[in-house]
Amino acid sequence: MAEPTPSTPADIAQALGLRPDFVWGVSTSAFQVEGAVAEDGRGPSIWDTRCKLKGGVADGSNADIACDHYHRWRDDIALMKQIGVGAYRFSVAWPRVLPRGKGAVNPAGLDFYDRLIDALLEAGIEPWLCLYHWDLPQALDDLGGWTSRDSAGWFADYAALIAKRYGDRVKRFATFNEFSVFTLFGYAIPWAAPGITDRAAHLRAIHHVNLAHGAGVDVLRDLVPNASIGAIHNRQIVRPEGGREENVAAARLLDAHWNGVFCDPQILGHYPEIVCSDIEPYVLPGDMARICRPTDWIGLNHYGPIYARVDPTTTWGYGWGDAPESATHPEVGWPIFPEVFKEELLTLHRRYRLPIFVTENGCGGGAGSDIPDADGIVADTHRIAYLRDFTRAMRDAVAEGCDLRGYFVWSLLDNFEWGSGYGTRFGLVHVDFETGTRTLKQSAGWYRGLIRGEHRG
Ligand code: NOJ
Repeated sequence: MAEPTPSTPADIAQALGLRPDFVWGVSTSAFQVEGAVAEDGRGPSIWDTRCKLKGGVADGSNADIACDHYHRWRDDIALMKQIGVGAYRFSVAWPRVLPRGKGAVNPAGLDFYDRLIDALLEAGIEPWLCLYHWDLPQALDDLGGWTSRDSAGWFADYAALIAKRYGDRVKRFATFNEFSVFTLFGYAIPWAAPGITDRAAHLRAIHHVNLAHGAGVDVLRDLVPNASIGAIHNRQIVRPEGGREENVAAARLLDAHWNGVFCDPQILGHYPEIVCSDIEPYVLPGDMARICRPTDWIGLNHYGPIYARVDPTTTWGYGWGDAPESATHPEVGWPIFPEVFKEELLTLHRRYRLPIFVTENGCGGGAGSDIPDADGIVADTHRIAYLRDFTRAMRDAVAEGCDLRGYFVWSLLDNFEWGSGYGTRFGLVHVDFETGTRTLKQSAGWYRGLIRGEHRG
């Protein structure tokens, strides 16, 4: 006899081996989708500055318009409804609400997120608000940015503004998105804003961002009743390129900078052994207690493993290595290893013992696979295969005991992919960047089917 089709979200989740309250969502970030960078009083961010730099963005583009989400947010919520997600992770642009990072607030900027949050709630979609997704106000960078110890206080004040304004309606808060990406690429390997390459600056940024996280958690806890607070970490197993002995030390240090220097102090209260002597000069008495504040969940952004190779020309003596030749690659993006995703989920679960939400997972595409055909159909079968394999791997991790509570696809929309500009498309929804037109890709239909129990992935 055929199995009955489950009908409630709880039944559907359970049929997939997941918790009945499992959250299905999509993610975006302010700078990557909003556009309107000079509208309604928004101040410049370090990424606006970087976009103006020659070579700052591969295709010479900028995010002045991006997906024009600042004006098209209603359409975007309608798309989320069509896909059937229960949650939307977005970030607030700090320079939109505090144009100079601190001091005078921008009422029009605050109003924008009011409208967005109210409409999400009306649509039955839970807002997940991330405070920081890399767009530091330029005025704060001019004061030293994350290399200044004052940054923890700036961040706490910004967090308080957001908590007071939206905390009556928003309960899910993340302090930061991908700590190690913006600190490593911002201060040691110059792939992101502000593009500094200096060991001391990198170490200071790590420690101050940790202090900011701890201060932010305290503020949110104090000001938002029933807040559910987490932080979003990019975690990727680091392998020595080619499995070669000469790359092992490089892989160890990159692993600490990439996977260790934020989760360990924030959740376990100490830095990884390998960085202790480096970071010590910046740690004042009481700091570790300020950083290690109780949180409710950990967010995992995961795409695939990374490879390290020894490279004496770089700030820390390691560089990005290549994946084995045998690895499968999408048209654009990182090698595909669903089994490593499962391993990462289980590692995270065993080491930190916090509920986990996958806050980002997804697949890039380019001109070949992510563009509408003559009939207007985007047949992104590569993304469907990726999402199918990764959601299966995640369910395997759950079967082995991982306390996983939700999954968010990166991303709702094709958007501004930082240093790669618009060449790499991650959306479930195609965006024509000339006209702003949105088209649901086939992967959106696949995801909707999974959420609605029409197939089992
Ligand atoms: C990580 C980041 O959080 C997001 O901003 C980026 O676009 C995706 N991963 C894809 O690279």
